[in-house]
Amino acid sequence: MAGNTRKNARTKLKPSIDSDEDHRRSTMISDKNPNFKLRRERNRGRFSFRFNFLLCFGIFVFAISTYFIYNYLKNSSYGAQLPRVITPFPAPKLMDLPQFQGEHRESLYWGTYRPHAYLGIRARIPQSLVAGLMWLGVKDGQYAMRHICQDSDELSIYGWTHHNGRNYGRQLINDHGLILETSFLKSKGESSGYGGDWAVRIDVHSDKSVTDENIWGTGHLFFYVADEGGNAISVGGDVVDIHESSLLASGLRSDIGAWQLHLESADNLKVHYSGFKTPHIHNLSDLVQLHLAYQVRRLGRLELPDTLEHSSNILIFQISAEVPFKADLAFLSGADLKSSRVDDRVSSLTGESLGKALMMKKNEFEDEFERRFNLTDKVDSESIVVGKAAISNLLGGIGYFYGQSKISVPAKSDRKADDYLLYWPAELYTAVPSRSFFPRGFLWDEGFHQLLIWRWDVRICLDIIGHWLDLLNIDGWIPREQILGAEASSKVPEEFVLQHPTNGNPPTLFLVLHDLVSSIKTGKFTAAESSEISSFLDNAFTRLDAWFKWFNTSQLGRVPSSYFWHGRDNLTTRELNPKTLMSGLDDYPRASHPSEDERHLDLRCWMLLAADCMQTISKLSENDNRLVKGYGITAKLLSDFETLNQLHFDNAYGAYFDFGNHTEKVRLRPQLTMNGNYATQELVREVLEEPKPQFVPHVGYDSWILEQQIDLISNKSTLWTNYGIRSLSKTSSLYMKRNTEHDPPYWRGPLWMNMNYMILSALHHYSQVDGPYKERAKAVYDELRSNLIRNVVTNYYKTGYIWEQYDQKTGKGKGARPFTGWSALALLIMAESYSDGWGMSNL
Ligand SMILES: *[C@@H]1O[C@H](CO)[C@@H](O)[C@H](O)[C@H]1NC(C)=O
Ligand SMILES: *[C@@H]1O[C@H](CO)[C@@H](O)[C@H](O)[C@H]1NC(C)=O
Ligand SMILES: *[C@@H]1O[C@H](CO)[C@@H](O)[C@H](O)[C@H]1NC(C)=O
Ligand SMILES: *[C@@H]1O[C@H](CO)[C@@H](O)[C@H](O)[C@H]1NC(C)=O
Ligand SMILES: *[C@@H]1O[C@H](CO)[C@@H](O)[C@H](O)[C@H]1NC(C)=O
Ligand SMILES: *[C@@H]1O[C@H](CO)[C@@H](O)[C@H](O)[C@H]1NC(C)=O
Repeated sequence: MAGNTRKNARTKLKPSIDSDEDHRRSTMISDKNPNFKLRRERNRGRFSFRFNFLLCFGIFVFAISTYFIYNYLKNSSYGAQLPRVITPFPAPKLMDLPQFQGEHRESLYWGTYRPHAYLGIRARIPQSLVAGLMWLGVKDGQYAMRHICQDSDELSIYGWTHHNGRNYGRQLINDHGLILETSFLKSKGESSGYGGDWAVRIDVHSDKSVTDENIWGTGHLFFYVADEGGNAISVGGDVVDIHESSLLASGLRSDIGAWQLHLESADNLKVHYSGFKTPHIHNLSDLVQLHLAYQVRRLGRLELPDTLEHSSNILIFQISAEVPFKADLAFLSGADLKSSRVDDRVSSLTGESLGKALMMKKNEFEDEFERRFNLTDKVDSESIVVGKAAISNLLGGIGYFYGQSKISVPAKSDRKADDYLLYWPAELYTAVPSRSFFPRGFLWDEGFHQLLIWRWDVRICLDIIGHWLDLLNIDGWIPREQILGAEASSKVPEEFVLQHPTNGNPPTLFLVLHDLVSSIKTGKFTAAESSEISSFLDNAFTRLDAWFKWFNTSQLGRVPSSYFWHGRDNLTTRELNPKTLMSGLDDYPRASHPSEDERHLDLRCWMLLAADCMQTISKLSENDNRLVKGYGITAKLLSDFETLNQLHFDNAYGAYFDFGNHTEKVRLRPQLTMNGNYATQELVREVLEEPKPQFVPHVGYDSWILEQQIDLISNKSTLWTNYGIRSLSKTSSLYMKRNTEHDPPYWRGPLWMNMNYMILSALHHYSQVDGPYKERAKAVYDELRSNLIRNVVTNYYKTGYIWEQYDQKTGKGKGARPFTGWSALALLIMAESYSDGWGMSNL
């Protein structure tokens, strides 16, 4: 990452939250929605005169009131029109659908929804009570606080070995020989408050295989509870003098009533605490470290001071004991202090009962895993362990975020270039690509995540997709990287924060929607699930339609039926090939000179998938015939082989390419520039030949329509390796080239799991249908699949992690780790679970 242009002073253009809300309400009264309903009713043949009249009258009343509200807003102090880009799409929110309320909502209330923390718990509401774990690790002979997942902690392993996304998880952490096993369990008892109770077991021991066993004499854990709503938390009476079990903390909240946190252990624990009043939870470990250091300096004791700030909303408990030891924490909601039941509830969530419950949940997970993925006859037992870690970390990485995205606005003469607007305050429940590097929502990653998640728990999948589609604005745009709230922001360099409303991102959610529709047809779901999916799709249709149309208008190419990713930088002289971040394939080489004449093959494929999927969904739900037809025509047009070949097939090369204003003759050259009084050297691009409109001769993931491309992918001189398929052909002029001084090659050679999965899907398809390539496809499929599995599994056992990419020369894991977003697709590859032909219903 080129982290050299951090900017500090930013001008805010944020309207007050109140006006945001008001405006949202007023935009709901647009005519779009009633119209849509009207058409659907007509289709159902229930369109009577009476209804017609009522509806007209209704629309009349709407129109009048819209007029008045509009005028009111215009004249009121908040009346300035909200820019379109931060105006929500005018339709009821999907998350308000009945299927997401009631028991469903409550069952997902608490969870390990703070994936950026080694262990972080919160509820799915904006201002939650949050809990988490820190501990003291040792690095270079010095204590260091562990809290937020970060590579520099150099843990030899951390991650969920088991997690069901709902009420159970088991994580293993190895911090230089100090082993922490953290288990999480939810339980809903009769007297529990909303969302039920939960328990955490922290089992601390040392790794006997590590040389100096004694370095861990005493272990120090720090377990905290913090109320984001600022409510005061009380400390239990007997905290410092703990025997078997003890009330650590208690409080009162409007969502769950009175709550209590208890600690229980059979070991000899010492407990100290500190209480703070602060809204800053994102940098809690700094605060704790500061206070510990002070105590050490002042008293020579590594202990929190047992003091509270007035009406503390954060309590931190230091739990110290000789390693090995075990500590159970039980959280009770709806816990009235006078109730005698409390003791029973605590004992059922700690000690032996907890041990039994955790064992039962673990077995349940194993059974469910076998039932869902059925790996026993497909791969060896070593691979199965990795498969379980893949799905567990994806599910255990699901987070809940709340906040406002920053949206870049086009520079105007009276504003600074880096002005921004704030999107409306929004919640997002989503899986994340990587707990350490990317612990937040990414639009195009999410489609791949859901390929796994729908196969595990389709209700979680719909809930996540619903949250994403509720982020749609009135233009049909969704910001691609979701940095919501202080905790999420604290992980993002400034220059990546702004979201650009001209830029798209592959609509991968259609991959999942396609799967859901075809799985309903083949009867993979229960009746209840099928009806929930159908109702979801029915209600999501207007949003999906707007999303599709945003692509279909804003990303159009000049030639009919062509598309290109808008927003590439056409002025930069620093990049070897100007990046196309919006495509998801960041530095994958495109035309050397970005222009309006470009045609991007990958986007055209996504459009075919989307149109085809929209057609299927519109047939499934009773939508307007014209819509069904419109998508049918578009899908047919995009699947027309002649047109595809005209736009993208290079006969001379025998491959599918992008098209654009291009030259191969470019290079980076060091150049001196004067910066005030001193000179700096930087790399500047030299163009040695005038670019001209032509096919852009780079073979890679861009050509994932693979019908007759088997030769290309199975050739070691181009794409094939013994570990998977390269992202760019070895013969490409930009193969493994740096894009700038600071940007090493990313999508220019290394192996990526999401694209390998899609290639396998296609090969699997061609190996099943009759045709001249059937045998060949099957052979290549088998070899590629076993190469990928072997390499991911080998790396996992060697390093403890699943990685972002794999080196094309050595197969070694590279980039971010753990990366259990789309790299977790390795599990579907093991299970041979693919889709029945994405975007192929017209072929
Ligand atoms: C935590 O962050 C807040 C806001 O960014 C800052 O004011 C505060 O000083 C930080 N606290 C510590 C202990 O670093
Ligand atoms: C699992 O796969 C085996 C063959 O690989 C098959 O016999 C068995 O019925 C499958 N089980 C389930 C639950 O699908
Ligand atoms: C670069 O793109 C902008 C916006 O599309 C356009 O206005 C401008 O003319 C382009 N410049 C060049 C040199 O192509
Ligand atoms: C997509 O755009 C093309 C070109 O403007 C248009 O002909 C087609 O009808 C559009 N498809 C849909 C479904 O809106
Ligand atoms: C291609 O790019 C060059 C350099 O920017 C420009 O001079 C030329 O007009 C472009 N050609 C076309 C056909 O856009
Ligand atoms: C593999 O690709 C190289 C480079 O494009 C080419 O020279 C060679 O003929 C290809 N081999 C086969 C077997 O197709």
